[in-house]
Amino acid sequence: MSSLVPISLAALSIALANQVYPRVPRPCPSSAISTSSQPNSPISGAPNSSSVILSVLYGKRAPRYETRETTAFFEAQHEWERVLEPGATPPIDLIPLLKYVPVRWAKWKRDCARTRKLQRDLYFGLLNETRERLGRGEENGCYMEEILKSQEELGMDLEITGYLGGVLIEGGSDTTSSFLQTLVLALTAYPKAQKKAQEEIDLVVGSHRMPTLDDLDELRYIRALILETHRFRPVAPMLIPHATLTAEEASVSGYKGYIIPKGATIFVNVYGIFHDSDLFDDPENFIPERFLLTENGTRPGVDGSDLRHNLPFGVGRRLCPGIHLAQNSININTMNLIWAFQFSPDTDASGNPIPLDTSAYQRGILTAPEPFRCTIKPRSKERADIIEQEFFEATDTFKKFEYGLSAEDREFVAKSRAQE
Ligand code: HEM
Repeated sequence: MSSLVPISLAALSIALANQVYPRVPRPCPSSAISTSSQPNSPISGAPNSSSVILSVLYGKRAPRYETRETTAFFEAQHEWERVLEPGATPPIDLIPLLKYVPVRWAKWKRDCARTRKLQRDLYFGLLNETRERLGRGEENGCYMEEILKSQEELGMDLEITGYLGGVLIEGGSDTTSSFLQTLVLALTAYPKAQKKAQEEIDLVVGSHRMPTLDDLDELRYIRALILETHRFRPVAPMLIPHATLTAEEASVSGYKGYIIPKGATIFVNVYGIFHDSDLFDDPENFIPERFLLTENGTRPGVDGSDLRHNLPFGVGRRLCPGIHLAQNSININTMNLIWAFQFSPDTDASGNPIPLDTSAYQRGILTAPEPFRCTIKPRSKERADIIEQEFFEATDTFKKFEYGLSAEDREFVAKSRAQE
């Protein structure tokens, strides 16, 4: 059984990279545009990524932040991140006796039980809905339909199936959104980088159409800007803890010759590596140009060969299985945002820009900027019209994923389509 899950996850990655993404509803541009009419709204990319992953997995989109599944997911996820945070639970691995502390004295046990209930209600609720939809013959080609149809052949019981969907929602929701929030923060705080990226995209794409993934090959500066966003504020600063199955000799420079004992827990301090001033010039600043100078952005003359572009996605056999979906999603969203919008800091009463704190980040195993204020405006009326047009043209694609919406969601969707 254990080998089946990685196989299906790998298949998911490839399927998502090659086929599914173009069929998934693009980000709702009208919601992005409305931010410009409310320049003081705190920014969040979370509903979009959550909607993408729910559409891919369960064939069900989440049009609003307040959509039931999105709210339920973020409630469970925040609890989950809190219990995973180093120090949130006592060192049970080292002192197994702690397992027997009665629940009434162990807050961490109550926290874990609450998190488990929130997660299971969501995962198994979505799975049941998908199964019922399949039973009614209303397939829309989502990933969990395929899993449910071949559940027996794959040898997957209900428990494994529910958690397969669950771990993918978890992995796919606030990671991509965290990246996009950092991107917006960096574009706002570093206007020169934003301008360079806009100039490049204008040269390659122009103003009469939106970018496509094929454009990325010609967008050298934007590719560097994406790598710099990962370096500047990696989504999982310490990755996810790994354990060694056998004693191993370390192979990276600085640790060569050291033996890591069997069963050791390893945190990979990606943030520390990316902010090491021996490796990177001026690591505390957002400088995409560093990735134009050397392959891994390291200072010229420094050996950066131990690094690689996908380091923020993990190491070894537990490397992120959603990497292809994530990269496609990041690439298209980054191009779209840079093509479409001007990001600038909010101003105070005297019209002076309010400085942004690019170090104010949430705590947890995954991290994202604390809510910040900025002004987001379409770069021109022509671009705004094109986005609206694309949004309306995507109506049929969206509709396939709009089953089981609440009355409020249906009203929101109808209103957004009426805004011609
Ligand atoms: C910006 C986007 C993303 C980043 C930076 C990211 C990063 C990571 C990292 C660092 C890990 C832990 C790997 C390790 O410790 O070695 C991980 C695991 C994982 N990711 Fe992602 N991820 C992203 C998007 C996604 C997406 C879109 C999906 C789902 C479609 C996904 C699904 C998963 C899953 C299921 C795991 C757990 C794998 C395991 O435990 O074997 N991730 N991701």
